Amino acid sequence: MVNEGNESTTWAILVAAGSGERLGSERPKAFVALGERVLLAESLERLDTSEWIDAVVVAVPADWEDATIALAEELVASKVAAVVTGGATRAESVRAALAQVPDEALVVIVHDAARPLVDDAVIERVILPLGEGYDGVVPALPLADTVKRVERGLVVETVDRSDLVTVQTPQAFTASALRAAYASEEPVAATDCASLVEARGGRIRVVEGDVRLLKITTGADLALVASWL
Ligand code: CTP
Ligand code: MG
Repeated sequence: MVNEGNESTTWAILVAAGSGERLGSERPKAFVALGERVLLAESLERLDTSEWIDAVVVAVPADWEDATIALAEELVASKVAAVVTGGATRAESVRAALAQVPDEALVVIVHDAARPLVDDAVIERVILPLGEGYDGVVPALPLADTVKRVERGLVVETVDRSDLVTVQTPQAFTASALRAAYASEEPVAATDCASLVEARGGRIRVVEGDVRLLKITTGADLALVASWL
């Protein structure tokens, strides 16, 4: 149930409004098959049943709102408070969903539907440090490959990777920090939410990610994640 008026309410934003151009399917990526269900079903059900989350807002492509409401009903996803039409970029989709999060919310988690295998362990890891005064918390993985800076096909530099990470979702924020990051009317094109909070001087804590939070971009990614179901 949506726990309206509860000061400790944690809301989740699930962004699923991308077209999935690199996957190359006829349908938007969130609605391709993953195992026996559509891809969106996996993360939606996992967020809905998480003990850390009180309510969920889903951003989907235009004309997929009704299909999403039907999916939520089928999953008995009772925490889904709103389904919104996403924007032209991920950030615009987050902004549209954030507009549905009530003022009472203290914590907002943002998650990519393209990372279906979100679980309570990583949700707990990103939520807990918010109590220690951070503005946001992101899950990250170390880089496995050597990293080089390249210009016009020539290596300019081999970068020290020891302090580099790749960042995933779910990302957790204090509601006030996330709202401030999206407050301007300017269109934003950031590829994650934390970068907008960072740009305003916000403190972002990094915690351990999960290889199973692989973002489905290509058909090979889809097959790999399906094999983990
Ligand atoms: N997303 C969104 N709105 C957009 C673009 C992306 O809600 N306008 C969401 C996607 O649905 C996805 C997440 O942001 O869950 C990460 O985006 P990405 O993996 O790039 O998905 P797509 O943009 O759909 O894929 P592509 O870039 O290949 O078109
Ligand atoms: Mg994209």
